[in-house]
Amino acid sequence: MTNKLWEKNFGVSKEIERFTIGKDRELDLCLAKYDVLGSMAHIIMLQTIGLLTAEELKALLAELKTIYRLADEGRFEIEEGVEDVHSQVELMLTRKLGDMGKKIHSGRSRNDQVLVDLKLFTRHALKETVELVKILFDELLRKSHQYKEVLMPGYTHLQVAMPSSFGLWFGAYAESLADDMLFLQAAYKMANRNPLGSAAGYGSSFPLNRTLTTDLLGFDSMNYNVVYAQMGRGKMERNVAFALATVAGTLAKMAFDACLFNCQNFNFIRLPKECTTGSSIMPHKKNPDVFELIRAKSNKLQGLPQQIMLIMNNLPVGYFRDLQIIKEVFLPAFDELKDCLQMAAYIINKMEVNEHIPENPMYDPMFSVEEVNRLAAAGMPFRDAYKKVGLEIEAGTFRADKHIHHTHEGSMGNLCNERIEALMQQTLREFHFERMEKAEKELLK
Ligand code: ARG
Repeated sequence: MTNKLWEKNFGVSKEIERFTIGKDRELDLCLAKYDVLGSMAHIIMLQTIGLLTAEELKALLAELKTIYRLADEGRFEIEEGVEDVHSQVELMLTRKLGDMGKKIHSGRSRNDQVLVDLKLFTRHALKETVELVKILFDELLRKSHQYKEVLMPGYTHLQVAMPSSFGLWFGAYAESLADDMLFLQAAYKMANRNPLGSAAGYGSSFPLNRTLTTDLLGFDSMNYNVVYAQMGRGKMERNVAFALATVAGTLAKMAFDACLFNCQNFNFIRLPKECTTGSSIMPHKKNPDVFELIRAKSNKLQGLPQQIMLIMNNLPVGYFRDLQIIKEVFLPAFDELKDCLQMAAYIINKMEVNEHIPENPMYDPMFSVEEVNRLAAAGMPFRDAYKKVGLEIEAGTFRADKHIHHTHEGSMGNLCNERIEALMQQTLREFHFERMEKAEKELLK
């Protein structure tokens, strides 16, 4: 019953405390470094408007840097009885510097503090996600190039349809990630606006210089309207979750394909045995558990936007404690997705493909359209050619000509992988992660 920032002269019952603090003491550890950075920017600004002296600022900044280092080394702790990261940082400053530590909260509320912490955390988490998406993207394009000549059946209705290739299959997932990157970028840009100074959600009578804190923290701009800044809690997380979910969607689909293609009945891909798992009873088993787990974890991540929406659904304007619960699903999601991305890149790198699939006559029908097109190109009306080949297949006289020639953009003979790479590069250039890195480095100097 100690150390509440808001404690006056009556205690809070243990049970209420346990319930309201919830998982914050553990989850807020992710936010510690960012809470310190936000405080540094805030107090530099407070000094410029006369709420701290230059000496006070100097002492506070030095102590905040020490706390940052502690958090960076994983040694920051939220003590028993302390509510959250915001209270812990203030407590540490007050212990060390006395009344000076209590001054830093002028013109601020934990509401805008947690908003800014979450945004700073999210910028970094998105940057790491983007880097891992790019690694997987490169791996997929490399495989696409390596196996660009290797044919496989393309399916519709899970029925053999037309010739496809491993160049197309791997490249398709690379291009999917290039599109997903657009969502990540939109999410990053929306996260990269400064809510600090909105205080409890209605601003402050102090003449806060929000432009200064925006620049100090390397935000692209601020969330101007203080009421909207507070509305961003939950909205930012939901939008970021959509971006994570779209990447997860790509992973889940690819993982399902890989499980299917790895099945003996397909035998399209091979995983080296060290990438598979065995059975406790069946001695022959080499199971693709990695892809199955990527699929399940990615499918779970696709529910994240819905989970966040349900928590914040129908909340009217202003802060509510409901918003605290979003952290429980939002903060761990990045590590879960990053793990899947990392494993996907690892296993795609090890994957080998069957280069002899078209030799199996069971796939001959996939060449039917090629034959129809050949006849049509030679002058026979398409419908007549279609019928002729159809009758041959029925009669069992169809002979597949397996030399196929596709030339248009995006077809197996003209993958346009360099253009897919260019799309990805263009999006990557527009993140400007260097701005946040430069600002944070400057603050910690
Ligand atoms: N742990 C709280 C949260 O995540 C911090 C903000 C507390 N603000 C408040 N008005 N009780 O939402």
